Amino acid sequence: MSVSVRLLIALVVLALIADVLLAYRNINTLLVQEQNISASYVRLNTLERTLTAITDAETGQRGFLITGNEEYLAPYDNARHTIDASLRELRQMWPDAAGGDIDALDRLTESKLGELEHTVELRREGRLTAAEAVMRRGAGMTQMDTIRAIIQTLRSGEEARLQAATLNSARSRRTAFTTAVFATSIALAAVFLCLWLLRRDLEQRSRVAEERAELLRREQEARSQAETANRMKDDFLATLSHELRNPLHAVVGWLQILRQRPDDPALRARAMETVERNARALQRMIEDLLDASRASRGKLELSLAPTAVGTLVTSVLETVRPSAASRGVELIEHLAAANVVVNGDYDRLAQVVINLVSNAIKFTPEGGRVTVSLTREGEAVVIVVTDTGRGISREALPHIFEPFRQTGPHVTGAEGGLGLGLSIAKHIVELHSGTICATSDGTDRGASFVVRLPAIRLGVGSEPKAITHDARS
Ligand SMILES: Nc1ncnc2c1ncn2[C@@H]1O[C@H](COP(=O)(O)OP(=O)(O)OP(=O)(O)O)[C@@H](O)[C@H]1O
Ligand SMILES: [Mg+2]
Repeated sequence: MSVSVRLLIALVVLALIADVLLAYRNINTLLVQEQNISASYVRLNTLERTLTAITDAETGQRGFLITGNEEYLAPYDNARHTIDASLRELRQMWPDAAGGDIDALDRLTESKLGELEHTVELRREGRLTAAEAVMRRGAGMTQMDTIRAIIQTLRSGEEARLQAATLNSARSRRTAFTTAVFATSIALAAVFLCLWLLRRDLEQRSRVAEERAELLRREQEARSQAETANRMKDDFLATLSHELRNPLHAVVGWLQILRQRPDDPALRARAMETVERNARALQRMIEDLLDASRASRGKLELSLAPTAVGTLVTSVLETVRPSAASRGVELIEHLAAANVVVNGDYDRLAQVVINLVSNAIKFTPEGGRVTVSLTREGEAVVIVVTDTGRGISREALPHIFEPFRQTGPHVTGAEGGLGLGLSIAKHIVELHSGTICATSDGTDRGASFVVRLPAIRLGVGSEPKAITHDARS
C-alpha cells in the first residue's frame, strides 16, 4: 500500500474519531439543556402547586367560618401538608440567587397559615364575630397579595430561564446537526478519496506488473535472439572452416603432386586448372565475407550507370552454363525485354543474378530445369529465376534472405557456400530501389526468385555503360 493511501486512511480514522467526539459533546450539551428545561418545568409546577394549596387552605377556612361544618376543613388540612412539602421542595430545587424570595415566601405562608388557624380556632370556640374581625382587618389579604407577588417574581425568573434554556437547546440541536452533517461529509469524502486512491494504487500495481512482464518477455526474446545469433555464429564458423578447408586441401594436394612429378605436362596442366579453380572459390568466399560485412555496416557502395539488363543476364548465363551442363541441369532463357536499361552497378547486379542462377543449379538435381526470364512490367524490369529443384520449406522461406541461413542438406565441394549470397543480393537490389522475393510450393517442389528493378528511358546520345563487361566468375 502506498504512503499516500496509508496517510489518507489515518486521516479517515482521525476524522471519524473527531466525528464521534463532537457527537458525544453535542449529545451531552443537549442532555444538560433538556435537564435544565425539565427542572424549570418542575419548579414552575411546584410554585403553582404551592399557590393552589394556599388558596385551597383559605377557601376551606372560609367555608368552615361561614358554615361551621368541619367537612370544609378537609381541603384546609390537606393544603397544609402540601404547602409544607412544596416549600421544602422549592428550597431544595431553587437556585441560590432566589433563596431570599423562598425565605420570604416561607415566612409569609407560615404567617398566613397561622392567621387561618387562629380564625378556625375562634370559630370552633363559637366566637364568629372575633374571627370576622380578624378577617376584616385585611392582614390575611395583604399577605396573600404579597405571596402572589413573590410567586409571580419567582415564576417570571423561572420562565425567563426556561426560555433561555429552550433557546440554548434549539441552538445546540442546530449545532449538533451542522457538525454531524459536516463531519459525516468530511468522513464520506475521505472514504471516497481513500477508495479512489486505493483503486489508483491497484491500477498502478497492475500496470507495473504488466510492464515487468513485458520487460521480462523482451528480455527473454533478446536472450533467445542472442542465443540464436550465437548458434548461427558457431554454425557459420563450422561452415566457414569446412568451406575453406576443402579448396585449400585441393591446392596443397596438387602442389605436392607437382613437386613430386614436375616433368609431366598433362599433370601440370590439370594441377594448374584445379589450383586456379579452388583459389577462385576461396577468393569468392573472402569477397562475399567482405561484402556481407560492408552491407551490415551500410558501406556497400554502387557505381551507377545506365546498364543493359539483357546483356548482363546473357553474360551471366554464359558463365554458368558449363556448370549447369556438368550437373545435367537444363538451362532455359526467355529474354523478352533484352533492351531494357536500368540505372545500376553492372558488377553488383551481375553478382545478384549469378548467385540466383548458381543457387538454382546447385539445388536442382540432375535432369532438372532452371529457367531465367527477363520481362518488362510497366516501369520495372523483372528477372525471374525458377527451378525444379529441392524447393524451400514453408518455415525456412521467411528467413531465406538472412545472412548465414542455409536450409536443407548442406552442399559441399566447390559449389558449397557460406549462406551469404542471398542476403548480399537483397542488399544490392534494395540499393537499386528494387525488390527481391522468393516463392516455393515446399520441399522438392522447386523455387522461384523474382527481382524487380526500376527501368529508365534512355535519352538521345546516352549509351548503356556495361554492355562490354563480363560477369564475375
Ligand atoms: N533455388 C533454391 N532452391 C532451394 N534452396 C535455395 C535456393 N536458393 C537458395 N536456397 C537456400 O537458401 C540458402 C541461402 O542461399 P545463399 O545463396 O544465401 O547461400 P549459399 O548459396 O548457401 O551460399 P553462398 O551463396 O554464400 O555461396 C541456401 O543455402 C539454400 O538452403
Ligand atoms: Mg548462393
